[in-house]
Amino acid sequence: MTNELYAVVGNPISHSKSPRIHSLFASQTDEPLEYTAIQAPMDDFTGTIRHFFERGGKGLNVTVPFKEQAWTQAEHRTPRAEKAGAANTLYLDADDALVADNTDGVGLVRDLTRNHGVALKGLRILVLGAGGAVRGVLGPILAEAPASLTIANRTVAKAEALVRLFAGEAGDTALSACGFEQAAGAFDLVINGTSASLQGDLPPVPASILGGNTVVYDMMYSLQTTTFNRWAQDNGATRVFDGLGMLVEQAAESFYVWRGVRPETAPVIDELRND
Ligand code: ATR
Repeated sequence: MTNELYAVVGNPISHSKSPRIHSLFASQTDEPLEYTAIQAPMDDFTGTIRHFFERGGKGLNVTVPFKEQAWTQAEHRTPRAEKAGAANTLYLDADDALVADNTDGVGLVRDLTRNHGVALKGLRILVLGAGGAVRGVLGPILAEAPASLTIANRTVAKAEALVRLFAGEAGDTALSACGFEQAAGAFDLVINGTSASLQGDLPPVPASILGGNTVVYDMMYSLQTTTFNRWAQDNGATRVFDGLGMLVEQAAESFYVWRGVRPETAPVIDELRND
């Protein structure tokens, strides 16, 4: 049987771990697929994905900076992609219509709950940031029924807009917005979804957001401790995790969407951690 073709599209793309993750999934599950990385020109994402599917490609992951374009281009969106406003997974349905999905939020929740044993139900959660990455994960977090979810952001109006957007999915969760400096009280879980560290910055939250048992999760990952997690450790946090597990879990969910087969994630996370 010839291998079916999958790829991740972004710009830049050479640093992407997705080809390695999916190759590990494929060999683990014996699925006959090949997974490559494609750098789309900044002004031709549309042509790049059209060409990929025309030559028989089966599925795409989409990364920075094309997730919103992928969402816009699709003819159909899954409910979780619809709310996320961005897509990281594309495929063609039986009628050859382009379908957009988003597996980022599920990836984050699975990493927290299954890999780190942090059940979100009843927790007081603080999310830092209100950009595309945060919007992509709010639905799946709210579905776990935390006691409260506070969105803090440099531009408070963007956090307030997310509160309005997700109000209908909050159920009994107390959903609110504030600026970083206004984040008050200790939280059970603090999730950093800002890109501040890319500019060598930290979101200026008070250290009082950290209590003795606060779990800290940085959606970024790095081989060393991330900038935000180092700040948290310096201020007493002992349970800090980075986004490597989320990366592998979102990939596993995409793999499942495409192939109907669930790969095991733990050995892949271990292998990447030891690279
Ligand atoms: P992404 O797709 O990574 O979410 P984005 O949509 O540009 O990218 O969002 C980046 C997030 O990081 C935003 O919440 C942004 O704050 P603003 O909404 O005020 O722009 C936040 N961010 C980026 N740089 C930051 C910095 N130096 N300090 C604090 N927050 C920062």
